[in-house]
Amino acid sequence: MRVVLGVSGGIAAYKACLVLRLLTEAGHEVTVVPTRAALRFVGTATWEALSGRPVATEVWDDVPGVAHVRLGQEADLVLVAPATADLLARAAHGLADDLLTTTLLVARCPVVLAPAMHTEMWGHASTVDNVATLRGRGVHVVEPASGRLTGTDSGPGRLPEPEEIVAAALRVLDGWSGTDDADPAVQSGADADRSKHLAGRHVVVSAGGTREPLDPVRFLGNRSSGKQGYALAAEAARRGARVTLVSANVDLPAPGGTEVVAVETALQLQDAVGEAVRDDADVVVMAAAVADFRPAAYTDRKIKKEHGVDAAEAPVVELVRNPDVLAGLVADRGDAGRPVLVGFAAETGDDQGSVLEHARDKLGRKGCDLLVANEVGPGVTFGQDTTTVHLLRPDVEDVRTVGPTGKDRVAVAVWDEVAALLGT
Ligand code: CTP
Repeated sequence: MRVVLGVSGGIAAYKACLVLRLLTEAGHEVTVVPTRAALRFVGTATWEALSGRPVATEVWDDVPGVAHVRLGQEADLVLVAPATADLLARAAHGLADDLLTTTLLVARCPVVLAPAMHTEMWGHASTVDNVATLRGRGVHVVEPASGRLTGTDSGPGRLPEPEEIVAAALRVLDGWSGTDDADPAVQSGADADRSKHLAGRHVVVSAGGTREPLDPVRFLGNRSSGKQGYALAAEAARRGARVTLVSANVDLPAPGGTEVVAVETALQLQDAVGEAVRDDADVVVMAAAVADFRPAAYTDRKIKKEHGVDAAEAPVVELVRNPDVLAGLVADRGDAGRPVLVGFAAETGDDQGSVLEHARDKLGRKGCDLLVANEVGPGVTFGQDTTTVHLLRPDVEDVRTVGPTGKDRVAVAVWDEVAALLGT
């Protein structure tokens, strides 16, 4: 097959060398079209040596051969890896200011874009819109992975591993149509309707972990980082929803296209979720780790070591129950069936039962429409970039397991299940 491998100007351009290698080893004829910026990272000599073919960047490079039209016309597949925010923007707006973008305009074959950029850029409303536009036109946009980015930061925006990109591209080339059973990492034109199924919907996502204060400097808290909730909110925005993100103590940039309501305690979270639900919510996803108990009393002065009559004794903290927010939402909606309610269950498994047994039991107790169960423990799930989850529905005996994978891909799977529940 004739493949055009576009490379745009990001540090991940070096990974495209391996993508090229894998494609040529699989017997494909690959022409590399780097952008000017890509050549600052990896030079022409490398691309020509690895592909065994001449490499051009500008439409002026091979004028007699009319390369800017020919390459796109003759290609069986155009794959761009990495696709920077700038490349996505140019492609979405039909700009044709270099050989790669003219090739994208001419190509009528499948086009696969593998984005790579910083988390803030990936979550920015412009990029979210550009990705939605491209997907709406049938372009296959691979979800970026989560993990270490350039520098010390990490988050969604990392170029997936070369093997993964090539596998996704070859699936597209083989006429892969993108069903739920296939890799949710790739959204395609075949899925275009599904990928916009939340347009006009109001979804509420709670994320992070509540803090229950004891005094002005201390609180009872938990280890939730908010990454999963933020990934869910970003994916919902990408699918066209109006998103209210009720965020409890999360130190992450707000995903583009979402309205963030910051809360601290379980009671504040309950109020914020309740208000958003009354504002015509269609779906509520309770990804936040909500404290079941809070200190019965709050002292507005710091509790001192010498706290009482007998200073040698440690103070006893009395706790009271917090409301179960999810159970309250289930009770309030009654038989209405709306909003669709999604719960999360962080389980460790114990001598009373496995993670899945506890999850099935919790699904019954909570009465929600979908339960996303994940295993927790030291080094597992909390704060990590990859996770394995089980998706359980009350009416379906089978359990869908997703992962180990990035939390952004879990978000794709959750919204696909919600699509089925909404009947869209
Ligand atoms: N949840 C809630 N309000 C609470 C506690 C939990 O809305 N006070 C929600 C969580 O956001 C999650 C689901 O309920 O979606 C399950 O949370 P989890 O802590 O696993 O369940 P609990 O009901 O607290 O059960 P247990 O602690 O016994 O496992």
